[in-house]
Order: sequence, then structure tokens, then C-alpha cells
Amino acid sequence: MLTIVRSGAALGAEVRGVDLRALDEEAFAAIRRAWLDHQVLLIRGQLLSDDDLIRFSRRFGDLDAAPIQENGRRFVEGHPEIYVVSNVIENGVAIGSLGSGEAMWHTDMSYLADPPKASVLYAIEVPARGGDTGFCTMYGAWDALPGSLQRRIEGLRVKHDGTYNSGGYVREGVTPTNDPRTSPGALHPLVYTHPETGRRGLYLGRRRNAYVEGLPLEESDALLNEIWAFATAATLTWCHHWEVGDLVLWDNRCTMHRRDAFDADSRRVMHRTQIKSDTRSGIHRPCEHEV
Ligand code: SIN
Repeated sequence: MLTIVRSGAALGAEVRGVDLRALDEEAFAAIRRAWLDHQVLLIRGQLLSDDDLIRFSRRFGDLDAAPIQENGRRFVEGHPEIYVVSNVIENGVAIGSLGSGEAMWHTDMSYLADPPKASVLYAIEVPARGGDTGFCTMYGAWDALPGSLQRRIEGLRVKHDGTYNSGGYVREGVTPTNDPRTSPGALHPLVYTHPETGRRGLYLGRRRNAYVEGLPLEESDALLNEIWAFATAATLTWCHHWEVGDLVLWDNRCTMHRRDAFDADSRRVMHRTQIKSDTRSGIHRPCEHEV
């Protein structure tokens, strides 16, 4: 029987009693509701092929093509929707992205004008230690800001950098620059209303090369540093230690995530899908409510 067990942290819940290969409409609706309520869901013990992963992900909406990996490779043969996160090298070529180092806090693909609404990450091989993935709630981040800071940032937009990925690698085809005013990327409102839950949250993307539109660079950095300190407080996070067969689904509009480093000699292989936003979503809409 399907049950939802809260993580006990600021976000996150585990869904128990399901086989994602054989979900009826009622069970899917319960998972979808839990995903909106808890922002991140863990579903353990799955036995998914790439086709199963794609089929489950598609129930949430159309899938984005996977971003090109930093080494120029694109995707799993025959499955352009799957992004490989891995440190494994085969025949001298990395089979995936992000290596074995720390991946800094980020929201997936926020350097695009219309980033995915959700990501699904499935564990195929995991190290015994390290490589844990942490999540933080961007609703909680907004709520944690003092009123004066909320009022100050209302209506501001942030440039989300498209130069570096969260592992610090330069994206394929991009000339590296550390000036966020001229780097490739997309502008998004800093404060948004989630289009499905109606809750307000921050939309920060990545810290590196982020820039508050219209401010002198130093002022932008100081403001972003102040906001990021609130947003990534330990009280707003939940961390997951992976086992093979774990699937984690997150709402990319109201969370950020990061990953711990792990032993480079161990193997970690994860397959990820990205679900397109339904519309040009709440992230892009101006805020509707006064603080
Ligand atoms: C990601 O940033 O999508 C990957 C996170 C992870 O490797 O755990």
C-alpha cells in the first residue's frame, strides 16, 4: 500500500509501497500531490530500465533534451532525454558529468529562459561513502528573510550564468568568463509565485557568476551573499544517502540541491531526466502579491 512518510526536515518525504513500472492513476495522483507538498520525494528499491525511467518521468509532462556534458558527449545512446551524472571513465572518456567532486548548490538548467519544472535522478551505481545529495527549500528561504530584505528584493531579476555547471566545469561550447554581466545566461525574477501551489519562494539558480540586474557588481555580490546565507541554512535542508535503486524526484521551481564529493576511485552512475515547464511558468511571471 502506498504511504508517504515525511523526512522530518524542512522538505522531503519518502513514498513507500510502489513499483514505478506499474503505477495506476490513483497512485500516480498521490505521488504528484506529495511531490507538490514536500518538494522532494525519495522512492527506494526500484528496478528501472532507461525506458521505465522515461515512461515514469513523462507522466509529469514532456521531457527536455539532456544538456550536453562538459566533454561534449550528449546522452545515452537512443535516449536523448537522459543526462548521465557519473565519475566513471570508459576507454579514456567520461561517461557522464560532474566527476567526483562537490557539486555546489544549484537549480537545474536555470541558465535557460525556460528551465525544467522537475528532475528525476535514479541511482544505478553508488559509492559506499560520500556522494550524498542535499536539498533546500526555496519557500523556506523566502520565509526566512527579514521583512526589510523581502521588500528590498521584490521585483529584482537575477542573471543566471550559463558558463559553468555545478561541478565547476565549463559548459560545452562556452568561452569562460567570470564577468556575470557579459556571460551567457538568462534573467529570472528573484522572487516568484509557484504556479501550482501558489506559494512564494526565491529563485537563485547558482551563486557563481550570478548577478542582480542593474546593480553595481559589488552591490550585487553583497546582496546575493546575504540572501544565499539565509537560503542555505542547515535548518532548510534535507540530505539523502543513496542506495542502488533509489529514485529521487524534485520540484526544480522551489528547491536547490548540492552533492558531496566522493572517492574518485569508486563508481557512481546516476541517470537523470528533466521535465519541461508546462507554460512559461511562475518563475518568469512578475510577482503577484505585495509582501
Ligand atoms: C545533479 O545536480 O543533478 C546531480 C546531483 C547528484 O549527483 O547527486
